Amino acid sequence: MGWAGNVLGWFSRDLAIDLGTATTLVYVRGKGITLSEPSVVAIEKQSNSVLAVGAEAKRMVGRTPGNIVAIRPIKDGVIADFAMTERMLKYFITKAHNRNAFVRPRTIVGVPSRITEVEQRAVRESATHAGAREVYLIEEPVAAAIGAGLPITEPSGNMVVDIGGGTTDIAVISLGGIVCSESVKVAGDRMDEAIMGYIKRRYNLLIGDHMAERVKIEVGSAYPLEEQKTMMVKGRDMISGIPRTVMVNDAEIREALEEPIHIIVNALRTALENTPPELAGDIIDRGVVITGGGSMLPGLSTRFQEETNLPIITVEDPLTSVVLGVGKVLDEIDLLKKVSLMTPERTMR
Ligand SMILES: Nc1ncnc2c1ncn2[C@@H]1O[C@H](COP(=O)(O)OP(=O)(O)OP(=O)(O)O)[C@@H](O)[C@H]1O
Ligand SMILES: [Mg+2]
Repeated sequence: MGWAGNVLGWFSRDLAIDLGTATTLVYVRGKGITLSEPSVVAIEKQSNSVLAVGAEAKRMVGRTPGNIVAIRPIKDGVIADFAMTERMLKYFITKAHNRNAFVRPRTIVGVPSRITEVEQRAVRESATHAGAREVYLIEEPVAAAIGAGLPITEPSGNMVVDIGGGTTDIAVISLGGIVCSESVKVAGDRMDEAIMGYIKRRYNLLIGDHMAERVKIEVGSAYPLEEQKTMMVKGRDMISGIPRTVMVNDAEIREALEEPIHIIVNALRTALENTPPELAGDIIDRGVVITGGGSMLPGLSTRFQEETNLPIITVEDPLTSVVLGVGKVLDEIDLLKKVSLMTPERTMR
């Protein structure tokens, strides 16, 4: 490969990463999304060695013998375990590059808005140690808005609501930056917990995270459905300790989800109240864009529409809007300058 080939090869390996609470996605410049895996690491306690990362590690959650722990290093949208986040990133970066550990790509990482400087530093250091060359950070709502094709560099207000695993991030963006924002640590995970709590109270049945998430996806909703849905739920009886199955329906699960949804609706209201009038006017015209995995809950847009009287716009693929937005920025240096946080530390080797 000649010089030009080298240079092209170098640039084509630049990475965009959405480091999510539930899922991490990696986009390789020129290739598209090459990795989407759960943000989970399984380690062997005594030796502290990594047994599995991603999908393989997620299968171990709740099924691990005493000496193996499966952890989610990113909780509530913030990095709870730096060392594990770094190991996870390293694994994903290497895997996204077909295990070519010698490539040091320029990397842009989507991070939660309101991330502190200490956390920003931690993400950059993790990515650098994980093999990235220059590390830039972009706030997730800005990335999601770019991914959803909103004209965010214009002087007009765009509102994005990203309902992820750990957090719901609401932001009003104008001229490439966040004008006002609201963030609550209530999103998909809390919906799962609410379902677990409900089934425990109502049926004396303990169910795991996986089962709760399946119930949410299969029969969950935020607004009455046209057709009734039911599902068989497996768990362990709290009194006898024996496995048992109960049938639940959509009305019950809607009731279970009421509290987290109410919190999200209130956050949306607060964000709207704090929006400067001119930008609020733009939002009345353009509507509110909802994204993130949690936005796929049936009836959620209807519920938001009823509560706010604003048009609610859903995106084509809520799970990829952040990483695709970060990916677009990889191709546009001008945009990168406008939207990235701080300047990167160069790590030349
Ligand atoms: N069809 C669906 N209905 C409801 N919720 C869903 C659906 N599909 C996925 N989810 C939920 O979406 C959440 C994950 O969304 P997403 O991948 O956007 O989160 P994340 O980016 O990893 O988290 P965060 O942005 O909070 O760091 C999970 O809680 C998952 O259960
Ligand atoms: Mg996200």
